[in-house]
Amino acid sequence: MDTSARIYQDLDRILVTREQIAQAVKTLGQKITEDYQGRDLMMVCILKGASIFFTDLIREVDLPVSVGFMAVSSYGSGTSSTGVVRIMKDLDQNIEGKDVLIVEDIVDSGKTLNFLLQVLAQRHPASLSIATLLDKPARRVVDLTAKYFCFNIPDAFVVGYGLDYDEKYRNLPDIGVLKPAVYGGK
Ligand code: IMP
Ligand code: MG
Repeated sequence: MDTSARIYQDLDRILVTREQIAQAVKTLGQKITEDYQGRDLMMVCILKGASIFFTDLIREVDLPVSVGFMAVSSYGSGTSSTGVVRIMKDLDQNIEGKDVLIVEDIVDSGKTLNFLLQVLAQRHPASLSIATLLDKPARRVVDLTAKYFCFNIPDAFVVGYGLDYDEKYRNLPDIGVLKPAVYGGK
């Protein structure tokens, strides 16, 4: 999709380009490949936001990984966390003894991943870590650090490459800052 496409008119600016994303995903895939040599790695995609990142990332990992999918709901249709996290879809396989890497789109307040870590830790994986595409450290309210992240971003609401506003804009190939007018701001 070209950046002159209609959907791009809703953006204030592009924050991370598709080329920067591709390079970072490749580098991260290589790092995961090195770090998990000889381990039983299972990568868990947190739907829906991480879906595009996940499918790109697993193809950059040169190991026989297994994959799993979970869906959690934390936001409703707004732009800040309610603090209420619900599992909408659980894993359909056992993670006991596996090296589990949770793949998430963004760590914002950290509440969603904090909750997920607690839930999955109770299932006795050999290890449990996080790979996130984006990290917004300025917004953190719980103490949480991702083992891997691709980009640190400022405190702005972003969409694209899987991230949504009200379920839309996930299909943008780049990551951009939405015009506040789109969600009723100034
Ligand atoms: P947290 O629980 O506050 O860390 O929120 C994590 C979830 O909020 C992410 O998985 C996203 O779905 C959503 N989120 C947080 N910030 C943004 C953003 O800037 N754009 C789109 N979704 C976001
Ligand atoms: Mg999400």
